[in-house]
Amino acid sequence: MSGKLAILGGEKAIHNTYPAWPVHDEREVEAVAEVIRSGNWGGYPFPGPRTRAFLNKFLEFQGGAYAIMAANGTVTMEIALRAAGIGWGDEVIVPAYTFQATAAAPMAAGAIPVIADVDADNYCLDPKAVEAAITPRTRAIIPVHLGSLMADMDAIMEIAERHNLIVVEDCAHAHGAQWRGQGAGTIGHFGSFSLQSSKILTSGEGGVLICKTQELAAAASAVVNCGRPPVENGEVTILGANFRSSELHAALAGVQVERLPEQTREREVMVAYMDEALSEVPGIRLLRPDPRITRRAVYRYIFAIDPAVWGVDHKAACAALDAEGLDSWTGYEAMNHYELFQPRLSRLPVPTAHPERFNFAEMNLPAAERACAHEAVWLDESVFRAGREGVDQAVAAIRKVYENRVELAQAVRLHGVP
Ligand SMILES: Cc1ncc(COP(=O)(O)O)c(C=O)c1O
Repeated sequence: MSGKLAILGGEKAIHNTYPAWPVHDEREVEAVAEVIRSGNWGGYPFPGPRTRAFLNKFLEFQGGAYAIMAANGTVTMEIALRAAGIGWGDEVIVPAYTFQATAAAPMAAGAIPVIADVDADNYCLDPKAVEAAITPRTRAIIPVHLGSLMADMDAIMEIAERHNLIVVEDCAHAHGAQWRGQGAGTIGHFGSFSLQSSKILTSGEGGVLICKTQELAAAASAVVNCGRPPVENGEVTILGANFRSSELHAALAGVQVERLPEQTREREVMVAYMDEALSEVPGIRLLRPDPRITRRAVYRYIFAIDPAVWGVDHKAACAALDAEGLDSWTGYEAMNHYELFQPRLSRLPVPTAHPERFNFAEMNLPAAERACAHEAVWLDESVFRAGREGVDQAVAAIRKVYENRVELAQAVRLHGVP
């Protein structure tokens, strides 16, 4: 038995702190200072020279030929849908286990997010659920690459081709990931990346949209840049707004992207080591890394505990892990639990006009519900930047909580989650 749980008054398992994020030094300071001195701070003229330089470096690493930078990784999805002509009344299939942005973006474009369950093996959009959700009004699918894994892009692209649908990959967690050697975000028609401050490529706030063709990129550029055509004196063909990012953000991202390949390698080696170590802890189910994922990008690492074996659910397990010094989360709400989409809370036209499509009580999403209510445990990318020692101490903390599960369950029964 490995000592009393910290949450019950024992000593913490982890005393070293994990490395801070984001990593930065004088290079970032100098890059931003240089923009300030230039006087060209904003995003207009669009795109600015630093924005272009950053995007070229990102495309070199991620793959793909066309990219635009925008204000964040939510509007990039809205821009993609609008650029593809998707709007009022159209249906867009999104996974039930993701951040609210994946469904908020289609709503902002005027479309109806149709929530489909995830695959219990990887918590990513289940192609069978996608197929079942298709109606004559379906226009797009937004798979999300989650938890260091990727959605089954072969199956999703096959369905999309058969039904003539647009695919927007939500790669907010997948900078650097590859599927059969092809970069995440370059397989579908669009790849949407968030550069928000916690993400594994960050400029504080920001987003990148990779576009499959020059035509889609031209339409997306116009949407980002107030409807202006991308060539001088070109025809105005699409409604846009100011969704631009700035040269200040691009300067930061331009340095951060140079750190990304090495950080990706470092985490990828350690995620395999973590999988191996955790596979020996009873009552833990690892998500299944599909062999077609040829490079794993780790933003959050997710595993599932079996509450029947542990005697507690993930809320108590995460509280105990936090007390041991290992930051952990229970992860997202299942999409049908987000209050945000309820017609009574929003004056957005989509839920108001289609309340029947937001009838959450009737949705059957067992894999997402189980992940969010009972079993998912999320760990931070920093664990995978701390070498073998970082992973070893995380595993030791997880083992300690498992070994003290009876005491933990008893405390939860008596007092609720401590
Ligand atoms: C899965 C997912 N999609 C989209 C987003 C939206 O990104 P942003 O915060 O840059 O708008 C996030 C952000 O956390 C996310 O986790």
